[in-house]
Amino acid sequence: MPILYNSEKRIFTLNTKSSTYQFQADSYGYLIHFYYGRKTDGLMDWTIYLNEHGFSCNPYEAKNNREYSLEYLPQEFPFQGNGDFKSPLFIVRDKDGVYDCDLKYKDYEIIKGKYSLSGLPAVYSENDNDNAETLKIFLEDKRLNIQVTLLYGVLPEIDIITRSAIIKNNSNEIITIEKFQTSCLDFTHGDFDAITFYGRHTMERQFNRHELHHGSYIIESRRGMSSHQYNPFVILAEHSTNEMYGRCWGMQFVYSGGFKAEFELDQYNQTRFQIGLSDEKFSYPLKSSEELVAPEVILSFSNEGLNKLSKNFHKCIKNNICRGFWKNKLRPVILNSWEALYFDFNGSDIIKIAEQARNLGVDMLVLDDGWFINRSDDNRALGDWIPDEEKLGSSLKNLINKINEIGLKFGIWIEPEMISENSNLFKKYSDWAFIIPKKDPVLGRNQLVLDFSRKEVRDYIFNCICSLLDYGNIEYIKWDYNRAISDVFSYTTDNQGKVLYDYILGLYELLEKIIKRYPTLLIEGCAGGGGRFDAGMLYYTPQIWCSDNTDALDRLYIHYGTSFGYPQCVISAHVSSCPNHQTGRITPLKTRGIVSMTGAFGYELNINKLSESEKAEIKEQIKVYKENQEIITNGNYYRLSNPYNEKFFAWEYVSYDEKEVILNAVIQERHGNMPIYYVTLQKLTSGAFYKEIKSGKIYAANALMDYGFPLPQQLEDYQSYSYRFEKL
Ligand code: GLA
Repeated sequence: MPILYNSEKRIFTLNTKSSTYQFQADSYGYLIHFYYGRKTDGLMDWTIYLNEHGFSCNPYEAKNNREYSLEYLPQEFPFQGNGDFKSPLFIVRDKDGVYDCDLKYKDYEIIKGKYSLSGLPAVYSENDNDNAETLKIFLEDKRLNIQVTLLYGVLPEIDIITRSAIIKNNSNEIITIEKFQTSCLDFTHGDFDAITFYGRHTMERQFNRHELHHGSYIIESRRGMSSHQYNPFVILAEHSTNEMYGRCWGMQFVYSGGFKAEFELDQYNQTRFQIGLSDEKFSYPLKSSEELVAPEVILSFSNEGLNKLSKNFHKCIKNNICRGFWKNKLRPVILNSWEALYFDFNGSDIIKIAEQARNLGVDMLVLDDGWFINRSDDNRALGDWIPDEEKLGSSLKNLINKINEIGLKFGIWIEPEMISENSNLFKKYSDWAFIIPKKDPVLGRNQLVLDFSRKEVRDYIFNCICSLLDYGNIEYIKWDYNRAISDVFSYTTDNQGKVLYDYILGLYELLEKIIKRYPTLLIEGCAGGGGRFDAGMLYYTPQIWCSDNTDALDRLYIHYGTSFGYPQCVISAHVSSCPNHQTGRITPLKTRGIVSMTGAFGYELNINKLSESEKAEIKEQIKVYKENQEIITNGNYYRLSNPYNEKFFAWEYVSYDEKEVILNAVIQERHGNMPIYYVTLQKLTSGAFYKEIKSGKIYAANALMDYGFPLPQQLEDYQSYSYRFEKL
């Protein structure tokens, strides 16, 4: 049974295949966290050792028990108001402006299957074989007359636990939620590192690991989007934990707006690790009977290092977040027009590229930005979405038909959440944009953000997208989002503190409507590259453009960081031309191909400008990719080195049955008289032999895993290697 309840001690135990999570509703009614770690039996109330600590507050009922303080008891849902002064998950203000709360345990419920959330993306159970279960814990505050329901989902087979919370105002007064985060893990002891993924436009998800010191380490997106700057996936790891060994805990926020993750080491060397909504520009009023849902957090624990932790998240995202027609399908190889032509194209340029692309084995032509009226550069026309027939040389429908006749599928770029001041839409509905009255708006890429918290705005954009998709046979859209939200002002509410949250719910509602109406449409998420690379978007868009940086060397670091929380099948990567447009670097075409061969592969260059030998190489790359696509998309992925510490980055794909293996590597630096680098492979069948396909050489699996495979030296910068092994 995934969820067990001990009624005598009111202890709840959540079991997955290799982890156990346990907490208690104690005699005072507080939820005390005992354990989240390696699978274990028994009750763990012994993990709590009470001791009086001076200058700590005690709940009133515990007045004779000065050892009892929420300041140092590990908790499940810490709130502001009863003596815990660490960062809480929950802060509420009553109608008189008083900050107070005292949530006590009331009841519980265990349900078969995994809960879902109204209006928000959430992990779903694939079928009954998941053995998923839900635990609901009901808490109440009698003075405020509010109820908080904590939701725990257990997916035992993939070692995943999820959390969410719903607050309901049962009183007749308005209360205001000032902070509402979802999940926290409290540790009574331990020496930990925080692992987070920071970045910037064209350099997203850089790996960052450092030891916790006393005080708080916080990462936060205040941008209304999950952001390029910090990713809502965070890890807590013991100092000694590495890829294959040691204990670590991950939290993945299933939300695409602002978020905050906190790591706090307190005066007793206890650690609190938490994530949820950003509380900046957040102040959510709840009227009588209204509810508010805290977006979901996916948790996982590994005592086999970071690789196992990643594997758990990969499986969960791939099978229990991604949905719909494309979920288990191999994705088309794309030729995208952006870095090939930018805004400078006409219909016949597109046709010429499509013809050449078809010859090389590409499956789909994606017409990026610049196809609609007045869009001669990135300063204008967002919101109108009317095809520029003069530029295209025909109707969009005709162009699509021609592309289809050539033998390619057709996809198109769109940026639905944005509006330009010089658009017709703005002339008509300037109040649809986020603009603070009497203030010149803060611009980003010379554009404004549409107020998606308003239904009429979403309905209008829905109709625009439908008329675009109904023009012709459009099988893919790239859903872009190219600025952060700075000015928050909605004309339809007096409570601006709810707008950012309502915006994201509005976005999700619109995406849901679109995928319902066009179930076979492939939507690729994008936000100036990977500015909204999160599990929330992946619920609607099963792949995301990973970064606007297509430089093969930089992509090594970006893919490395991304791989901790996200599977290969959702990472979109394209081969572009050299010198690279973002860095000016020149890398071999072979290396660009190997680095881009993730689950969503493609090209973004003017193939008509390539030499015959380059075209031949691309043709061969696409052939090899298609041969390997199944393993890359559905196999297990392993990081074999850390590109920040070593001079090469190597990674491996192993098919689920361990019969087929792909080893890829790129050498980042060249010097005179170089040593030979050896790569140790992972998770081959112990004792078996593997044949490397090109050379026909036979290798013992155990030696490949212990001694390593040598990468031959070659006299060229950024040399890359790709080997395919088959089990004998
Ligand atoms: C963003 C995207 C790019 C491209 C441009 C078009 O920057 O990330 O891939 O689509 O917009 O304007």
